[in-house]
Amino acid sequence: KGYLLKGLPLKGKKVMITAGPTYEAIDPVRFIGNHSTGQMGYELAKAAADLGAKVILVSGPTNLSLTHDLITVVNVVSADEMYNAAHNHFEDCDIAISAAAVADYKPKTVADQKIKKKEANLTLELVKNKDILLSLGERKAHQFLVGFALETENELENAKGKLKRKHLDAIVLNSLNDKGAGFASNTNKITFLDKNSQIKAFQLKTKAEVAKDILNEIIIRLNA
Ligand code: CTP
Ligand code: CA
Repeated sequence: KGYLLKGLPLKGKKVMITAGPTYEAIDPVRFIGNHSTGQMGYELAKAAADLGAKVILVSGPTNLSLTHDLITVVNVVSADEMYNAAHNHFEDCDIAISAAAVADYKPKTVADQKIKKKEANLTLELVKNKDILLSLGERKAHQFLVGFALETENELENAKGKLKRKHLDAIVLNSLNDKGAGFASNTNKITFLDKNSQIKAFQLKTKAEVAKDILNEIIIRLNA
């Protein structure tokens, strides 16, 4: 199978991408977050727009910015906000890619005032956030839905499990084990798995190149 990234193969298509971390408020000045930079999602947005797609980039807090005629950035902070934004834009998209590092848990309550230090120990009660990708999978119609999986053990098995459980068309397994892959790195090493159990492993590459590989795999399957 060759490379299909000639011309504008995504012209007329709408692509939604979630990117970056989410921040879950503890009180007015504190939050629970993670080290996601958003770079993989932003590279996917750029690559999709360069292939002619209209892109909605639903982005958690990042230091990145994008200006492209075909890209609309929707900024969100928390997982609940990302959930709402993603659902608002899901209906009329052809491809949806969930590259965000959504916080799995949020504080059960958000303190109205800054929490003062008193006791030696402080316990925060956390509750599970909604799984945005799962909820998109459950209402999926014509969309080609792609997730990411970050695993530190049983990588392929866990990724396959997520692919199935979330009703995805494909999943991108991110290998954190390799040096120079994953969070806060300019490079990534991925394995692309689809719902027909096709598996394709890629070399360590820049995230811009990885974005093109991912879109190429999606386009191959859309055209099939
Ligand atoms: N995801 C999501 N909403 C969440 C959690 C995850 O949309 N609340 C998406 C991520 O964007 C990613 C995929 O689900 O595309 C898998 O995320 P990951 O953290 O690897 O898996 P989880 O399902 O959260 O399971 P766990 O963290 O326990 O491995
Ligand atoms: Ca998770």
